[in-house]
Amino acid sequence: MALQEAGSPGPSSLGLCLLLALFYMSPEGISGHSFSLPSGCLTGPLRVSCQGLGLHTFPAALPWTTEQLDLSHNHLQVLQDNATEDRPNLCYLDLLGNQIEELSLRALLPLRWLQALILADNSLDQDYVSNSQALWPLDHLRLLDLSANRLDSDMASLYVANLSSLWSLDLSNNLITHLSHGTFIGSPNLLNIDLSDNYILQIQTGAFEGLLQLRELSLARNSLHCISDFSLRALWQLNLSTNALQFFATEEGNGGYQLQVLDLSHNQLRAMPMLSALRHLQYLNLSDNQLASLEPHAPPLPQGTGPWYQEVNRPNLTQSGYSPGASLPELTDLDLSRNQLDIFPIGFLNHLSSLQRLSIAWNCLQNMSAHQFSPGLSFLPLRSLDLQGNWIQTFPSWVFEILPRLEVLDLGDNELQLCWRPEAGQDGPFQGVQQPFSSAFHLKGLSLSKNGLRRLCLTGFSPASLLSLDLSGNTGLALAPSDLQGLQHSLHELSLRGNGMESTHLWLPCLQQLQALDLSGNKLVNLPWALNCSSYLCSLDLRKNLLQTLDTEVLGGLGGHLRSMWIAGNPFHCCTLGWLAALARANVSVPDLEEAWCVYPASEGGSWAPLAGDHSHLCTWWQWQGTQAGWVLLAVTSLFLICCGVAALLQNSAKLPGALEPGKGWVCPKPEPEDNQQTIGRESLGRPSMERRDPDQK
Ligand SMILES: *[C@@H]1O[C@H](CO)[C@@H](O)[C@H](O)[C@H]1NC(C)=O
Ligand SMILES: *[C@@H]1O[C@H](CO)[C@@H](O)[C@H](O)[C@H]1NC(C)=O
Ligand SMILES: *[C@@H]1O[C@H](CO)[C@@H](O)[C@H](O)[C@H]1NC(C)=O
Ligand SMILES: *[C@@H]1O[C@H](CO)[C@@H](O)[C@H](O)[C@H]1NC(C)=O
Ligand SMILES: *[C@@H]1O[C@H](CO)[C@@H](O)[C@H](O)[C@H]1NC(C)=O
Ligand SMILES: *[C@@H]1O[C@H](CO)[C@@H](O)[C@H](O)[C@H]1NC(C)=O
Repeated sequence: MALQEAGSPGPSSLGLCLLLALFYMSPEGISGHSFSLPSGCLTGPLRVSCQGLGLHTFPAALPWTTEQLDLSHNHLQVLQDNATEDRPNLCYLDLLGNQIEELSLRALLPLRWLQALILADNSLDQDYVSNSQALWPLDHLRLLDLSANRLDSDMASLYVANLSSLWSLDLSNNLITHLSHGTFIGSPNLLNIDLSDNYILQIQTGAFEGLLQLRELSLARNSLHCISDFSLRALWQLNLSTNALQFFATEEGNGGYQLQVLDLSHNQLRAMPMLSALRHLQYLNLSDNQLASLEPHAPPLPQGTGPWYQEVNRPNLTQSGYSPGASLPELTDLDLSRNQLDIFPIGFLNHLSSLQRLSIAWNCLQNMSAHQFSPGLSFLPLRSLDLQGNWIQTFPSWVFEILPRLEVLDLGDNELQLCWRPEAGQDGPFQGVQQPFSSAFHLKGLSLSKNGLRRLCLTGFSPASLLSLDLSGNTGLALAPSDLQGLQHSLHELSLRGNGMESTHLWLPCLQQLQALDLSGNKLVNLPWALNCSSYLCSLDLRKNLLQTLDTEVLGGLGGHLRSMWIAGNPFHCCTLGWLAALARANVSVPDLEEAWCVYPASEGGSWAPLAGDHSHLCTWWQWQGTQAGWVLLAVTSLFLICCGVAALLQNSAKLPGALEPGKGWVCPKPEPEDNQQTIGRESLGRPSMERRDPDQK
């Protein structure tokens, strides 16, 4: 089959037509047109929209300039012969969501310049023989949408039997069960066909015959079991997602395939499909199949004669020395998630010399020990590797040696053990696993979430690279002083969400570049003091902790970049909300302020109240009680000073001036509350619930 390099009819004029839709529109009444359009229609210079107005008939008297008419979601049922009038400019007609069941033979004749006709969600399964003929005069039609019309196979083929100008056809969401030979032969210029969401079980050989320009085909969400001789060589994109495929093979032979995108996700493939002829493949999605290995014939062949068994043994498909990876030199994206792989398919990957993004998430990977590494492996240009949802216990550093450009690594939801365990011995599985990230020189994003980590033991982060670190969902994690060393000048994002960490277990170094910090779902009673050096922090999540107040001194150190802060789910103290005022002054938005609550001191009944409410009334008495103690202390001190002064005067009346200098020679207890109030704007008597920083955080 020769490849046709036709000057492919780019959809430029159609694009122009659609672009014009973006023009300004105004209510018809206001703009004062003399046309008698139904009231409620919006008109623009080139576009009229009468969407959802309950119309039963095609509007008469369209403005001459109208290029686009939107009649979607009305009650049109029949288009009579004289329903439309000659409108050579009309190129786009949207009839989606009406109840159209009858198109008279000449109803669309005046619209013969139409380029796009949307008939989705109507009842075109009625009278389909005559309805299909009503489309024939549209010999400039490029785009036809017949989705959701309850069309079966015969109806669908009749509708497209004679539309030779068509480029784009949407037959999705119908009742098509099979495609017979030559179905599309009357529409030889089709560039893309959407057949998704049907019940297609069978595609006869030659169903797409004659479609030399076909670039995109979607057969997603059908019931196909087997594609044994895929032969659409000009195709760029094929979507076979969500079928029942057990087998997929390309036809060997002369002439290359142009296929670039192949979606085989959500099928029942048990063996790696035969893709050796698809040398231009860039995107391959094999997610959600039953692959246990990527070797061509590795899984044991079932006894019996299922279709899969027969196909695998067809002589022209079985090649000796066939390596599925070697034949995909342009593959950049490979999704193998949700299969049953139990070893990291290093041999397969080793041939994929262009691979950029790989997912083996949600498989059964377990053993990534050093034994798999052999010196013959070449470098892979992989940038992103998703290994979440496996059973990986050890992550050996040789991975970074063959993936030197790796930037994003997701190891979430595994069973990682990052601390070397002497009892495992020198040759045990934990050998060579110390500092697994020490050679990850380009790693920018790392997720270690949900691994049951209690300690990190990560001393080997390479400096100045990691931007984002996810340590969430590791219940009971404790961060030691050395854990994040080396990341002080690089880390932009850190998540410690849902770890149940206590303040004493959260030791952060001075993370100078930090921009987003998620501390929600812990047991923190105060802000980590080290935050005062994160002067670029702009997003801080403190939800669901045990915070009673926020240290304005730490907040003050945040340098004015803080934009958003989430606080709900903390037992804040209603009478010490000076920090909230400080946040408001600094223009920090608190998106969940309405959901936040605070508690009154026990002396006031210990009741809860919405944080955002006015607490001045109930807090005044409590504050006065508190200040009373201060006044008493001040009074006693003053009395004492006066007594001492009088005594000194009596002893040595000659030194009178000097003796009256205040403070000299006396150490007065520093009245901390008042002092703090002046320097950081805390409300008077913020003390009782204030937690000072932990000794080990100083
Ligand atoms: C296709 O449509 C044209 C009118 O546009 C008509 O003359 C011709 O007979 C139709 N062909 C078939 C095979 O029905
Ligand atoms: C394939 O079709 C499915 C279902 O319509 C869709 O979700 C998916 O994004 C498509 N795949 C590609 C690669 O476009
Ligand atoms: C592969 O397909 C699955 C299921 O349709 C989808 O969730 C996933 O995002 C796809 N992968 C890529 C890389 O597009
Ligand atoms: C991991 O696999 C290697 C061989 O691939 C084997 O020698 C080793 O015992 C395995 N380790 C574990 C912990 O299963
Ligand atoms: C942060 O607080 C510590 C402890 O008081 C202090 O030594 C340090 O200078 C502060 N850093 C900044 C940038 O404010
Ligand atoms: C807060 O925003 C207001 C107006 O949006 C602005 O006038 C004021 O300068 C801002 N204050 C700070 C501290 O950024």
